[in-house]
Amino acid sequence: MAQLWGGRFTKQTDAAVKAFNDSIGFDRRLYRQDITGSMAHARMLGRQGILTQEDCQAILDGLEGILKDIESGALPLMEQESGISEYEDIHSFVEANLIDRIGDAGKRLHTGRSRNDQVALDMRLYTREAADEIRSQVLGLLHVILDLMEEHSQTWMPGFTHLQKAQPTTLAHHLGAYFEMLRRDYGRITDCRNRMNECPLGAGALAGTTYPLDRAFVASELGFDCETRNSMDSVSDRDYLLEFLSDLSILMMHLSRFSEELIIWNSNEYRFVEMDDAFSTGSSIMPQKKNPDICELVRGKVGRVYGDLMSLLTAMKGLPLAYNKDMQEDKEPAFDAIDTAQACIPLFAEMLRTITFRKEVMEKSAMRGFTNATDAADYLVGKGVPFRDAHGMIGRLVLHCLDAGKAIEELPLEELKEFSPQFEQDVYDAISLRTCVNRRLTTGAPGEEAMKEEIAASRAWLQAQEN
Ligand code: ARG
Repeated sequence: MAQLWGGRFTKQTDAAVKAFNDSIGFDRRLYRQDITGSMAHARMLGRQGILTQEDCQAILDGLEGILKDIESGALPLMEQESGISEYEDIHSFVEANLIDRIGDAGKRLHTGRSRNDQVALDMRLYTREAADEIRSQVLGLLHVILDLMEEHSQTWMPGFTHLQKAQPTTLAHHLGAYFEMLRRDYGRITDCRNRMNECPLGAGALAGTTYPLDRAFVASELGFDCETRNSMDSVSDRDYLLEFLSDLSILMMHLSRFSEELIIWNSNEYRFVEMDDAFSTGSSIMPQKKNPDICELVRGKVGRVYGDLMSLLTAMKGLPLAYNKDMQEDKEPAFDAIDTAQACIPLFAEMLRTITFRKEVMEKSAMRGFTNATDAADYLVGKGVPFRDAHGMIGRLVLHCLDAGKAIEELPLEELKEFSPQFEQDVYDAISLRTCVNRRLTTGAPGEEAMKEEIAASRAWLQAQEN
């Protein structure tokens, strides 16, 4: 009988109830965290004289053996992948196996502990590792973006508002916007990781224990900054998971926006980019097709992560203190959101790294659509025309150009002068793409000098994160 709590019961659990109640089907992935936490707990019990040294050593050896056997496959966590298990959850699995292996000493491991603080610990350890893995994946993606920014600081393209051409900019500037978004994502996950780095073990079921536990020792053994405070909060807090899933939702939203732009840029109409063959897929019926499926899937998967956050928020709402079984429902959404983000980020980075940007097409596009209209107005302002009047003159000029099917710079000077006598020969240079972009030198603008500073600052920031 693998149940930990059979004593008080006179009947076997109904099979359907057991299947409904068990969590080993999904919490078995916490085996390493569970064993690591138990080893720290056992070491502490030994140091405090709550366990004898022999029992403590037997437990540590037993747990180490279980870990080895799980990892080698000698000890499967489920008899069959999809089938029901004899064990209720990963905590029962480890404890029952330990008792099988070492007998009575194994029965002493759970002294001064509840599954409530145990599972709280396991999930924190798991989430902390996931946060670190995702932080390093985000840094990898930021590297790819920054390398592209360096390469494309003079690759002209139209900047858009309302998906209408607005003002000319550079690809480096456009990519730089995503660098900033992802840099904030990195910061948010780092904040979350730092805030959650407190050890809940020792909170017991809800009210601490009567044993003289050394909670600070366990906390430091497991790499936490300190132990959690209120023991009721310790077993019922899932804020850190909600915060992490919120951070992942925002991060995924950014990847989705980026994906959407690449899909548009990859379309037959835009042709700004060409995805690498290795990162595209074809159609079973239309031989000409080469589809940006990675981007579409990333965009699509965002929905699951939002859903994961929403289910956990909803599960937590209205729960009285302290532990309630509802909290077992934290795991599947958390795992799903983590798996999804971990799958998307490196694939997205590699897809981006291998993409071809069609500079000529982008530049041509920037020259069409009157992206230099603001600069033409600014030119007149420079000749003493009030901005509002200049705006009206250029508006009429654009209308005329639309009729004539020409860009502003394609009109001869005499024709320009019909719209404002202030136009001189120097207008052509003033409204050229190169001038339009490179004169935009305020901090964060696309001008070459401003961009150089932005790239250098970003490079220094990235390097600082890696140290
Ligand atoms: N499987 C449970 C969970 O994930 C472990 C905690 C069980 N505690 C309890 N009192 N039933 O939440």
